[in-house]
Amino acid sequence: MHIPYLLPATIIQLKTFVTTTSLLPVAISAARKSGLFLKQSVGKVKNIQTKDGEERNLVSEIDRQSEEMIIGLIRKHYPDHAILAEEGGTGAAASEYVWVIDPLDGTTNFLHNIPMFCVTIGIECKGEIVAGVVYDPNLEELYTAERGSGAFLNGKRLHVSATSDLTQSLLVTGFPYDISTNPNRAIERFIGFLKSARGVRRLGSAALDLCWVAAGRFDGFWEVNLHPWDTAAGLLMVGEAGGTVTDFQGKPGSIYRKEILASNGIIHDSMANILAMSGMG
Ligand code: IPD
Ligand code: CA
Ligand code: CA
Repeated sequence: MHIPYLLPATIIQLKTFVTTTSLLPVAISAARKSGLFLKQSVGKVKNIQTKDGEERNLVSEIDRQSEEMIIGLIRKHYPDHAILAEEGGTGAAASEYVWVIDPLDGTTNFLHNIPMFCVTIGIECKGEIVAGVVYDPNLEELYTAERGSGAFLNGKRLHVSATSDLTQSLLVTGFPYDISTNPNRAIERFIGFLKSARGVRRLGSAALDLCWVAAGRFDGFWEVNLHPWDTAAGLLMVGEAGGTVTDFQGKPGSIYRKEILASNGIIHDSMANILAMSGMG
């Protein structure tokens, strides 16, 4: 390619200049490519194993292949970026940019041929998630967000719901794989919401749960013991759609916190109240 007006120093600067606008297209093509792969792999799984000592926590060769596909593409474009991915794939040792990846969120659904799963990729820069993509290959729904620029579903701006009363709210949650030990009063808290909200759903994919809050389909979400890759893109999505994300005590939400409460903001205090009161006698 002939570039007549660029001096060598300028070319070097252009090569290392990264904006979220240049990151997002790479995340989108990785999510679309691996999402399609997941969809085509339903019912073709050969090897299912358990992991982290939990008999409910499943992983297959498809999770790993999807992750390799995503990381391969990121490395091609950003070889000096770090990677935090569920199945252990890595990139550069240290970088101010970290790609936080769940190559298949909703593994249990996927393994049971339930078309409710996704690929989720969040991009952290200097400790803050700056961009995120969640791709649902079954509904062909692509969620995208950049910090400060809003959240979008297939290019259309997202807004959280306007529901103002918990009794009229439809909520969503998930259960950690060690639910039999009832961590963080998870069962009592679930019962608390069953009694106080219009309804509670359990989709089986935390990333989609959060995107559906961002899209105003659900009014609120809570869960304990999630990992950064489950929430990196989804938390940004909710915030950029005008929602609120905290822990159960009201501290600012973080992908590194074990408690996540995300809502349209209006019912946030009511939800925090149920979390505080449930199971306290
Ligand atoms: C799981 C899903 C599920 C949530 C679990 C997660 P995985 O992720 O997001 O909704 O309840 O806590 O671990 O294992 O399917 O990637
Ligand atoms: Ca996950
Ligand atoms: Ca996963």
